[in-house]
Amino acid sequence: MRLTDPDYIVRLKDINVRYTGFHAVKDVDLDIKRGEVIAIVGPSGAGKSTLLRTINMLETPHSGELSVGDFRFDVSKTLTAADLLKLRRATGMVFQSFNLFPHMTVERNISLPQMRVLGRSKAEANARTAQLLDRVKLADKAHSYPSRLSGGQQQRIAIARALALDPQVMLFDEPTSALDPELGLEVLAVMRELARDGMTMIVVTHEIAFAAEVADRVIVMANGAIIEQGTPDEVIRNPSSERTRQFFRAILDRQ
Ligand SMILES: Nc1ncnc2c1ncn2[C@@H]1O[C@H](COP(=O)(O)OP(=O)(O)O)[C@@H](O)[C@H]1O
Ligand SMILES: [Mg+2]
Repeated sequence: MRLTDPDYIVRLKDINVRYTGFHAVKDVDLDIKRGEVIAIVGPSGAGKSTLLRTINMLETPHSGELSVGDFRFDVSKTLTAADLLKLRRATGMVFQSFNLFPHMTVERNISLPQMRVLGRSKAEANARTAQLLDRVKLADKAHSYPSRLSGGQQQRIAIARALALDPQVMLFDEPTSALDPELGLEVLAVMRELARDGMTMIVVTHEIAFAAEVADRVIVMANGAIIEQGTPDEVIRNPSSERTRQFFRAILDRQ
């Protein structure tokens, strides 16, 4: 495989991930182009989070090859701290739980990683933080503490914090699942704008309407494998496998 094709920002080849006694991701191949927005859907336990976490090496594959920007991994390679730093800088991750530092202001939450990881001065970091707060429509919250914010606001701060390291790809793991629907909409609005601005995004989500509207490609996982992928039109409106049809029917029944 040519892992260095400049059109692709993320490439996975034959990736397998095992937990003790459990094969969570099976033979996954996935190439993602710069600027592409991917939605990953599928039932609980399908391996969606494991796959996402593998892309920034929070999980280590047992076989296969992976590249993200300039970062390369295959099982024969021993990773150095510098390799991992390169990967962590290339990816921004947003989790279901917002994971902000509770004892720091919003500004410090977003500025500190820039100072630590990118070596920006406090003034540079705070200037970038102000831009990002503007982008997530929370410019007036710079000096608030996370506990004073709604869940939707905290998640938008978490997005701003991930963007502060200028990642090449943003990874979202069910970013709205912990939120009331109307607060989820605020977060989806920020994500929609990010997609429109050309950010490469991989989004694990149950928000099918959002996936249909924003994703260039929808990937369906079940039992650790990719069982179907294509445009939202193909996959959501006209799925080819019975397993996919079942999954969407179950989701629609719930809504
Ligand atoms: N740390 C772990 N140790 C053992 N099994 C795990 C671990 N994390 C996840 N699993 C199992 O791997 C499977 C896939 O999990 P996950 O990737 O979280 O699925 P999804 O995000 O699609 O719900 C599940 O059956 C889960 O129980
Ligand atoms: Mg998950």
